[in-house]
Amino acid sequence: MKVVAFSGSPRAQGNTRTLLDEVLRGATSEGATCEFVDVGSADIRPCKACQSCSTRGTCVQKDGMEQVYPKILEADVLVLGTPVYFWGPSAQMKTFIDRWYALVSGRGRNELRGKKAVVVTAYGDTDPSTPQHVVGMFRTAFHFIGIDLVGTLGVTAIGSDDAAGNEEALMEAFEMGRRICGKANAES
Ligand SMILES: Cc1cc2nc3c(=O)[nH]c(=O)nc-3n(C[C@H](O)[C@H](O)[C@H](O)COP(=O)(O)O)c2cc1C
Repeated sequence: MKVVAFSGSPRAQGNTRTLLDEVLRGATSEGATCEFVDVGSADIRPCKACQSCSTRGTCVQKDGMEQVYPKILEADVLVLGTPVYFWGPSAQMKTFIDRWYALVSGRGRNELRGKKAVVVTAYGDTDPSTPQHVVGMFRTAFHFIGIDLVGTLGVTAIGSDDAAGNEEALMEAFEMGRRICGKANAES
């Protein structure tokens, strides 16, 4: 099983990264092959809505997504991590997700249907409803695409190393990684 985590945080070593690393550590402990992709620092430009993907089958833009598209396609489980920015995902994460258009709209094909995904959020607020719009966006988009949302994790953290000092959150992230790989799923 291949698990690929995508971070939409501009902080290369921030809370999102810390939580995603734990999810991947949990998945690795169950035998998964894991990879991390730093979407937050990749050169990924916004979708131009040119619809070329619908006719050509691929995106016309030549940028960092050329390297990232194959990693999305290789994944059995997509782990999407983003900080909450003004109750939504980071601009980097949203830009990345919009570019999935080329994977779901091209010539009537949908290359993402049947994959599993989990959503991980970090946010400064202590209100657990803070990531509701981020999770809602993913939930609805995944339903449309045919991706199975198998888990969500939201963690309060504001300083970039807050999550690293939150033992409970680290354990939850690790367990989520185990669970998505099946064995722990069967146990719970
Ligand atoms: C532009 C910006 C907007 C933010 N908006 C929110 C918000 O709406 N709600 C919230 O709880 N935290 C908000 N935060 C705090 C971040 O979500 C928080 O610091 C998070 O832990 C950052 O994750 P990271 O370390 O992975 O980048 C915001 C931070 C920034 C820089």
